[in-house]
Amino acid sequence: MQIGPHVLPNRLFVAPMAGVTDRPFRRLCRQLGAGYAVSEMVSSRRDLWTSLKTSRRANHDGEAAPIAVQIAGTDPEMMAEAAAYNIDRGAQIIDINMGCPAKKVCNTWAGSALMRDEPLALAIVEAVVAACAPRGVPVTLKMRTGWCDTERNALRLARGAESAGVAMVTVHGRTREQGYKGAAEYDTIAAVKAALRIPVVANGDIDSPEKARDVLAATGADAVMIGRAAQGRPWIFREIAHFLATGEHLPAPDVTQAKAWLVAHLHDHYALYGEFAGVRSARKHIGWAVRALPGGEAFRARMNLIDACDDQVRALADWFDALAVTHQRLPATSAAANDDLLEHSA
Ligand SMILES: Cc1cc2nc3c(=O)[nH]c(=O)nc-3n(C[C@H](O)[C@H](O)[C@H](O)COP(=O)(O)O)c2cc1C
Repeated sequence: MQIGPHVLPNRLFVAPMAGVTDRPFRRLCRQLGAGYAVSEMVSSRRDLWTSLKTSRRANHDGEAAPIAVQIAGTDPEMMAEAAAYNIDRGAQIIDINMGCPAKKVCNTWAGSALMRDEPLALAIVEAVVAACAPRGVPVTLKMRTGWCDTERNALRLARGAESAGVAMVTVHGRTREQGYKGAAEYDTIAAVKAALRIPVVANGDIDSPEKARDVLAATGADAVMIGRAAQGRPWIFREIAHFLATGEHLPAPDVTQAKAWLVAHLHDHYALYGEFAGVRSARKHIGWAVRALPGGEAFRARMNLIDACDDQVRALADWFDALAVTHQRLPATSAAANDDLLEHSA
């Protein structure tokens, strides 16, 4: 699997998720088997670049190559400038967001809404490629299957993007109108893969090793991208990697091993956000990690009242130590709990 000149260790990608896939979480996923991670989106609005949020997102200290930054916006010139700005700050791959509603950061309907205006979408792609190509930086595009059920234009847009010089396309198997409702469909992704020469990545509802195998087979895609199922379960990447390589399931992680990964993640998280913001934004990661475990909901409610880093780490470690008394390994997540998880984490 290759994006431009960048050879990736495998074909398991972490999906960009604003508010989730920050640098510490991306690092954790890569440590646990993800071959590639895209940053949370950065707005093309210049006035936001100096905000604390964007400067945190544009800081890639210690991040493994290739560093991929997703940009969102509706103006070709501004998008080209945003690409150049992020390349100057270390981006080695620029991803254009046409896969996710991005109104909040752009003050207008950017992201997946662009799929409704193909000429503008392609003008953005061309402008960004023109800014990146002279610097040797590949441009990738993330999109949905279309705007709505009657306008599934992913194939046309993907073809246009390939002609404009895009190096890889990711397709989430839902329309913009669907949001996160209904099941992802993979036929459109298969059609995009069949028509393009560049790598195509399949995304949507992949939450188990079997599902990853089936989606790869059904679409012929070069890679799969996993979003919500990795929330609180970043070891899903090693589980899928092992299954794809051997056809066998890796045992669930030891409770003490999972504790060590999560504690290390918390320290990394606090280092980026500081105590006040860090302890608060870490709550969601802890909540995702424990919610499907026995007694997890009650712990989550209690943990949400803690507002010091040391206390939060200690509470998490103690809770996992108590779980380790009754369980050597993490209890398996049931299919029903998995569905519930995907339903509620969008
Ligand atoms: C909380 C959250 C934030 C997201 N933020 C982004 C984003 O910034 N850029 C983007 O292209 N997609 C974003 N997405 C969409 C995901 O990248 C992915 O396409 C979608 O969740 C479907 O994959 P999944 O079923 O594996 O979760 C986000 C999804 C979630 C749940």
